[in-house]
Amino acid sequence: MMNEKLQAAFNDQINKELYSEYLYLAMKIYFLEQNLNGFANWFDVQVQEERAHAMGLFNYLNDREGTLKLEAIDKPVVEGNTPVTIFEQVLKHEKFVTERISALMDVADEAHDRAALSFLDWYIKEQVEEEATASTILGTLRLIGDDKKGLLMLDRELAARTFTAPTIG
Ligand code: FEO
Repeated sequence: MMNEKLQAAFNDQINKELYSEYLYLAMKIYFLEQNLNGFANWFDVQVQEERAHAMGLFNYLNDREGTLKLEAIDKPVVEGNTPVTIFEQVLKHEKFVTERISALMDVADEAHDRAALSFLDWYIKEQVEEEATASTILGTLRLIGDDKKGLLMLDRELAARTFTAPTIG
């Protein structure tokens, strides 16, 4: 069984992933209101991915006979009010999640829990992708600037994103 500190850190990360799900759902509302349905679809897939991240940790903690504890999820705060500023927040948030996963790995390392460390490897690699995706879209949005046609082209591209349940661990 995992030690208490590591179990608490897993429970905390489950909460962070559920908050991510909630935050991206809140961002989806902004794009629905703007009639940018491709962006809204991108966030919808992101919501499903975050739920999968949370459930991966949830199932692992359960498999290790840990104690699952669900805490309150913070109210999501969307700081931006344009596509650019919202994606700035997405990138900032993903960097924060990367830091949290690193801290969780530090706790697993301190506990000499090789199994947990090996499991968490998937998450730290996933964060590289999460940050890169947000950064790419942000870069494109900055290039587009005030060009409405460019924005609609990107919207069409993001409409094609589909959710594939990840194989975690
Ligand atoms: Fe669960 Fe977007 O990281």
